[in-house]
Amino acid sequence: MHQIGPDVAFWNDALVRMQERITDSAKMKLSGFPQVSDPQTGEWATVSNGDWTGGFWVGLLWLAYHRTHDDYFLIQAEHWAERLRPRTQSQTVFRGFLFYYGAAIAAILFDNPIGRELGLAGARELAELYNTHARLIPIGTQAPKAQEAYLRETNIDCVASIALLSWAAGGLDNDELRQIGRAHATRHIELCIRYDGSVHQSARFDRVTGKLTARFTHKGYSDESTWARAQAWAMLGYALAAKYAPDEPLFLEVAKRVCDWWLRNAPPDDIAYWDFSDPRIPNVPRDTSATAIALASLLKLSALTKTEERAHYQTAAESIAKALVNNFLTPVSERDERLPGMLTEGCFNGRTGQAIKHELIWGDYFLCEALLVLAGTLDPLAI
Ligand code: GLY
Repeated sequence: MHQIGPDVAFWNDALVRMQERITDSAKMKLSGFPQVSDPQTGEWATVSNGDWTGGFWVGLLWLAYHRTHDDYFLIQAEHWAERLRPRTQSQTVFRGFLFYYGAAIAAILFDNPIGRELGLAGARELAELYNTHARLIPIGTQAPKAQEAYLRETNIDCVASIALLSWAAGGLDNDELRQIGRAHATRHIELCIRYDGSVHQSARFDRVTGKLTARFTHKGYSDESTWARAQAWAMLGYALAAKYAPDEPLFLEVAKRVCDWWLRNAPPDDIAYWDFSDPRIPNVPRDTSATAIALASLLKLSALTKTEERAHYQTAAESIAKALVNNFLTPVSERDERLPGMLTEGCFNGRTGQAIKHELIWGDYFLCEALLVLAGTLDPLAI
């Protein structure tokens, strides 16, 4: 467990607010997985099958149980995890998120049998989508008409699949899963990581030869820009890769490179704009969800490095966490009457204008995970 800093009361206060929001959301009896909320009303827009984000809602419930040992959160988490079960069959790389955060973390943190069984099932099915020529798992989709196109595309967003696959390789005694996770992460270094440590979100490849045919973006400002969430997903993906494959020094080297780029290019107030390359900055939306992912990743990187580097990444992470909590976690002032515990000003899709100043479920998840680490309640390398 890492050293508990002097701000532990501050982090715990923020966690209490987040827990209140998790409880309120669970009591809303939502018909689907909460995904995006309007921070003025706190009302969630939901997705019935979980889309790519459902695991983060379940993950928040697992984290709340980890912190409190309150059975209410356990019952809720198990209920929502079961609702993810049909998604083991959906042909998308995003099962990496759904079944790591929605299931496996409960097995890792407190040996939950549902989390274990569902996490292993999700990992086994995810590995079936691996393309041996391209040495990666394509984005995939559930939409039959678009399936062909999405089997030729990939993005940096789900390099973190290495976590689910590596964990499951042990549980299933199947080393192939570990190799697939490593190959997927390795191939994205060539496809998506630029020399300076910034990140291309997406790439297209020939399904038969595996050769790269184009680099582009699904959600960023332009094909050459650095979309904040792409950078943040790379930080998370390679920090997790370094944790799960400590014998491969390249993963730690890439994790540092992408994290260093973030720290060199983030605004002085620590909160990223939605795309680092948008020429209209500062008159564009922020993305607190990207910033929260970056924060959780920096805490992992700090724990993976030694002495001076460790302190450098830890200090950077604490500064980001304070900026998020003080300015974006409701209430942000004494006169703020909105519901407490919402991480505001996440940008779902700056390209289409969808939900550009909202609470986003994965932003909440990564802020909550990071606060637990900072409060000394969670080992940064546990999950
Ligand atoms: N596709 C994952 C994201 O929008 O961040």
